[in-house]
Amino acid sequence: MLFLSWYLVEVKMAVYQLICIFVLPACFSAAPSHTIMKMETFTDLLQELESRFPEWPAKDVADLLLSSNTKQFQPHQYLSDRQAALAQVLLSKKLISLEGMPWQEQGVVLAPDGSTVALRSLVDTVVCGWKANCDVKKLKNHKRDVEPSKDTRPSQEPHSHTTCRISLPSVLGLHFASLKDSLQVPLYVPDGCWDSTTDPKTFQLHGAPSITDLTLANINGVLDGALLREMMIMNETQKMSDLLHSYYGGIPARSPYRRQNFQALLEEGEFGDEMGKAIECYRKQYQGSGLPIMTDEELKETTAAAAKQFEQQYLDCPAVIPRCQWGAKPYKGTPTLLQLPLQHIYIHHTYEPSRPCLSFKDCSADMRSMQRFHQEDRGWDDIGYSFVVGSDGYLYEGRGWLWVGAHTLGHNSIGYGVSFIGNFMASVPEGPILSLVRDRFLSCAVTSEYITSNYTVQGHRQVVRTSCPGDALFQKISAWKNFKES
Ligand SMILES: *[C@@H]1O[C@H](CO)[C@@H](O)[C@H](O)[C@H]1NC(C)=O
Ligand SMILES: *[C@@H]1O[C@H](CO)[C@@H](O)[C@H](O)[C@H]1NC(C)=O
Repeated sequence: MLFLSWYLVEVKMAVYQLICIFVLPACFSAAPSHTIMKMETFTDLLQELESRFPEWPAKDVADLLLSSNTKQFQPHQYLSDRQAALAQVLLSKKLISLEGMPWQEQGVVLAPDGSTVALRSLVDTVVCGWKANCDVKKLKNHKRDVEPSKDTRPSQEPHSHTTCRISLPSVLGLHFASLKDSLQVPLYVPDGCWDSTTDPKTFQLHGAPSITDLTLANINGVLDGALLREMMIMNETQKMSDLLHSYYGGIPARSPYRRQNFQALLEEGEFGDEMGKAIECYRKQYQGSGLPIMTDEELKETTAAAAKQFEQQYLDCPAVIPRCQWGAKPYKGTPTLLQLPLQHIYIHHTYEPSRPCLSFKDCSADMRSMQRFHQEDRGWDDIGYSFVVGSDGYLYEGRGWLWVGAHTLGHNSIGYGVSFIGNFMASVPEGPILSLVRDRFLSCAVTSEYITSNYTVQGHRQVVRTSCPGDALFQKISAWKNFKES
């Protein structure tokens, strides 16, 4: 078991380069607190490098940034001191907890779509791909083999001086294969909150890291890296900074769909197979030390079940932008807990704002104005809805899964109120937005046991005298599975 513990520490170190539990000078040296941790800080740095090395393919620029993060790196070769220091801050993943203080995650940035992304995971995956790589050790610390001269490409392909970090299938595979009963408990992957969404500097995790040290920012980074890598392969002339700008900041952006788009990349059973390969690699390299003895058949069953759990809990579920992220005011008074699981879902439209929002910036502004209206004009404790659906591709947390809402008079303690932002009397939300609720939110709520599997879906108008959720939207939802006639 000792050997495996050591290996899991290696995995942890790969997920997070350094874990600081007490006040260590090393925890702070690389992270000047003035750096604005936005995706734009990273794309600006990329642009500087792209204009200096205009002939380099995007992957080589990514590779250069990764190498700036190794001990062997000689900063003056390609990057100025400032650029090298910035790359260090942006790409050094760390989890830090000062005694008695909440955990902080470093090396993560706030993207324009409102999600938080671990850049190291992103760049690693762009360079190495998301799959299990057996050659982790072998790839370690090769150097560029040709003397560089300014403004020319310093070496011929391949120049794999990069350490390919331990992959997501290997982190998850070893977790599930080594820990007894791990398949019985939900995989815990914490999200967090920024100190500010305009000038984000520190990201505080909700709670302590899990045993694998995986965080949501980490998974976002891997999924985005895998999708960006595909785009780079499709068109090798695109600059990485341009790709990132349109991927995260386009209207609409593609990043909110990272989970379903990553699923679309996967062949049937592929994620489980990759977990199996990662475990095989581990067995070969370390004679299987510490892992329970398993037949090939058992290994296949375990990894298939583990992959299914990861898919059901993460990839199948819609991402929800938490309250702290859209700038919610606190609840007034004391909220009431729901008695779970519930049996009903009530669909609403917001009516006002009447226009669907297409970006995190606009959707979060809508959330704040609705909360202000509900709290100040209506005199309610909080925004009424349980969840709100933006046309940017995200759900926004209103009262959330646990607390009684104020959405459907007389039915608030027996159902969730889910509201689409916009006036849907004459038109309906775009297909992918409807699908977010119909195909992902509802099944995920059943899997997570927030609603019973025999739940019913109804429009607000079926239980209260109102035109909500709009004629056109009402007609749409009346074709949904589990729709119930009044
Ligand atoms: C590839 O990307 C470049 C730069 O963005 C663009 O000009 C070109 O049209 C793209 N090529 C294809 C085949 O999409
Ligand atoms: C749904 O199933 C639960 C038991 O899980 C049962 O108590 C309830 O009556 C059912 N509801 C409907 C609407 O059929």
